[in-house]
This record gives sequence, structure tokens and C-alpha cells, in this order.
Amino acid sequence: MSDWIDFYDFKHSVIYVNARHRDVHYRTIAEDIRKLVPSPAAVVLDYGCGEATSADLIAAACGQLVLAEAAPNVRASLTMRYAGHPKIAVVTAEQATAWKQSSFDLIVMHSVAQYLKEAELDRLLAVFHSLLKPGGIFVLGDIVPPHFAAPAAAFALLRFGAANGFFWAAAFGLMRIFVSDYLRLKKTAGLAHYTEEAILKKLKAAGYAAERAAHNIGHNQRRMTFLCRIDGK
Ligand SMILES: C[S@@+](CC[C@H](N)C(=O)[O-])C[C@H]1O[C@@H](n2cnc3c(N)ncnc32)[C@H](O)[C@@H]1O
Repeated sequence: MSDWIDFYDFKHSVIYVNARHRDVHYRTIAEDIRKLVPSPAAVVLDYGCGEATSADLIAAACGQLVLAEAAPNVRASLTMRYAGHPKIAVVTAEQATAWKQSSFDLIVMHSVAQYLKEAELDRLLAVFHSLLKPGGIFVLGDIVPPHFAAPAAAFALLRFGAANGFFWAAAFGLMRIFVSDYLRLKKTAGLAHYTEEAILKKLKAAGYAAERAAHNIGHNQRRMTFLCRIDGK
């Protein structure tokens, strides 16, 4: 298992400064993803969904929602949270990538690409291409640009905290992240950054007609979301 998957495999990752941050974060993401659901019958995959505490908002707007999460403890908590939900299935990353071809109307991978080696990202782009139905859409979110990513992320978190009543917890949380494994992992496991041009080139090479969305999913608008359709399927 990758070091980043281990890092996220806490019941509550240090990335979220408190429960309020986690819940506002996932609600914001779910509200943004919900707007991208193409129809009420759509079959949707959220790959690397994390704690997804507001996934029911997405499920209410689609026909079926598959939540794929590689971290076992996070997945166990998702399984408990959504047990018995008629539209939500929780699966491993492997189960998601082995899904029947041409199954999904929408595939979202948000804030995951930075943790993947380039070859792993390329493999997933090819897999998602085959999993999409004709006319389906792949949304690649939270792509981190190369320069000043860390100060921009810290500033965006403080603003998000100020707007949602957890500014001081955010400031304290930033210090906690600073002394956590995050910086060590950044050096050892790496954190992938892409310019807009580089990721568009990669998406084109994988057979997608992609464009940058006006708005990044979530609260950090310096990062980028790409809307990708499949060429000629
Ligand atoms: C920042 S969280 C994103 C969670 C959620 N999508 C969001 O936007 O809040 C990063 C996610 O990437 C997943 N992840 C990290 N490395 C991965 C890998 N090699 N394969 C699959 N998932 C991975 C982690 O398990 C975690 O759920």
C-alpha cells in the first residue's frame, strides 16, 4: 500500500483540523460534484472519495453512487455510514477499476492525482476511459500547480476556516500538519504538481477532450478541475 494511503487511513485524518472542518469540506465537495451529475439516473463513481460524509447529497441527485476508497479504515467507516443506503455502494480501489466497461456516466477523482506516481495516474486515466459510457464525463479535480502550492493551500485553509467558523482551529491545524508525517512523505513519497498545459496534454494523450473548469471543486481556487469527455467513443 502506498504511504499516502496509510497517511489518510486514520479514522480522522490530521488533514482535517476538526470535525467541523471535515464536514464543511465534504459538504462543499459534494455540493460541487452534485452540480456535475448529468441526469437523475446517472451512475457515478467517486474514486478516492475519502471520508465522504456528505455523499448522500450526491446520491440524491443520481441513480447510483459508487464510492471507491483504498484506505481500509476509511472504507470501513464509509461502509458503516452508508450501510443500507439504497443508492450507495462502497468498494475498494481494485473493485472500482475492475468494474464492467462502459458503466459510468460520471467519474470523479478529486484531490487524489497529487498522491499518484505519474505511471499510476496514466493507468487510471486509461481505466476510467474504458469505464465511462459513451457521452460520459470524467472530472479530474484539485490538480496542484507547481509554484507556491503550500503557502496557497495554507492561505486557502485559513480563509475557508474564517468563512466557516474554524479559523483558529485552522491555524492550529496548520501547525499540526507541519509536525505530522505530511512533510516527510512529501519528500519521500512525493507530491505531483502539474501545470494546466501539462495535464491537458496528458489527458489528450489518454483520449480525452478536456477543458479546465471555471471553478475548482472545493475551497482552493488556485488548484484546477478538468472536465474530460471521451474522444470518439
Ligand atoms: C486528500 S484525500 C481526498 C479525498 C476526497 N476525494 C476529497 O477530495 O476530500 C486523498 C485520497 O487519495 C487516496 N489515495 C492516495 N494515494 C492513493 C493511491 N495510490 N491509490 C488510490 N487512492 C489513493 C487516499 O486514500 C485519500 O482518500
